[in-house]
Amino acid sequence: MPKRVTAFLSASRPGDIEKAAGILRDGGIAALPTETVYGLAGNALDPAVVGAIYAAKGRPSDNPLIVHVASAEDLPAVVREVPDAAMALAAAFWPGPLTIVLPRRDVVPDRVTAGLDTVAVRVPAHEAFLAVLRAAGVPLAAPSANRAGSPSPTTAQHVMDDLDGRIPAVLDGGPATVGVESTVVDLTTTPPRLLRPGGVSLEQLREVLGEVDVDPAVVGEMRDDEVPGAPGMKYRHYAPAAPVVVVDGEAPAVAAYVREQGLAHPAVLCFDEDTEAFAGLDVVTYGSQDDPQSLARGLFDALRALDRPDVTRIFARCPDADDGLYRAVRNRLLKAAAFRVESV
Ligand code: TXA
Ligand code: MG
Repeated sequence: MPKRVTAFLSASRPGDIEKAAGILRDGGIAALPTETVYGLAGNALDPAVVGAIYAAKGRPSDNPLIVHVASAEDLPAVVREVPDAAMALAAAFWPGPLTIVLPRRDVVPDRVTAGLDTVAVRVPAHEAFLAVLRAAGVPLAAPSANRAGSPSPTTAQHVMDDLDGRIPAVLDGGPATVGVESTVVDLTTTPPRLLRPGGVSLEQLREVLGEVDVDPAVVGEMRDDEVPGAPGMKYRHYAPAAPVVVVDGEAPAVAAYVREQGLAHPAVLCFDEDTEAFAGLDVVTYGSQDDPQSLARGLFDALRALDRPDVTRIFARCPDADDGLYRAVRNRLLKAAAFRVESV
């Protein structure tokens, strides 16, 4: 891919929203802020543009993209049916960190859906993204704006670290307030199925939908012959250079375990409360154990900080609570660890 200059635009600079929208109207792509993570956006209805998104990320073409629209009223433009359940979810959670999988309309290119008969749609809750979306006047396909396999970007600088010179522009809209990607729920199955935990919790979904199944890929590694509901869930993801191991247990026991391994340069990803227990070790904290919002906001930045050639293994403290936003944090960490968990 030819090296070019990536414009660093700011959502608070007059004119930059319009610059980003202009790039998109002209068939280009641009990284935009959302409340979950930064997205790499382009016209969802143009297969060539969608191809450019996959190429810039280095993303496998069998992993479909989320289509972003400005409101639930735009759903019929991209989906064949809008069931009552979709309207109920939209009323409860949009704009916000929820993606709904529905039967797709033919105008949505195969490249967006990776050939599936469904399309994933969401209305993001970031004013700058919505302003660009309205000014561009087309639905925007936007995967997370990272190189495939890396942690999702929660700042414009993360996007630059991964994609500088590979995309025309990034629009800086501040750090992402949620910090993990949207929840993905499939409404084409009965009962509905959670494909990826995220900013809207399973408990919140059940309040609106009643029964909701959980796709097996959310909690465990898929065997080679198994197919996850969300194709993206099968890929190793969020992973720094060094292998990650989740270690369940109390902080002092985890610290003893790390020291016992006798490794050249272990690093520890832990809670703010843990620094004393891990004193003397190379430590990166990602938030408070009692505050799942802080953990979600800090996780990807911490994983990026640990992506260093000198680190030989990363031992991660991970919430064992499996409700609310804790479920999304645990899922992302388990994926970073390729589901390697030790208990001490
Ligand atoms: O928060 C988010 O969702 C961010 C921001 C930018 O909106 N986007 C994001 O996109 O995380 P991406 O491409 O990194 O993840 C999309 C996930 C993948 O796991 C993909 O397999 C799944 O959604 N997905 C997309 N279309 C689908 C479909 N039709 N059926 C099932 N899963 C689908
Ligand atoms: Mg992604």
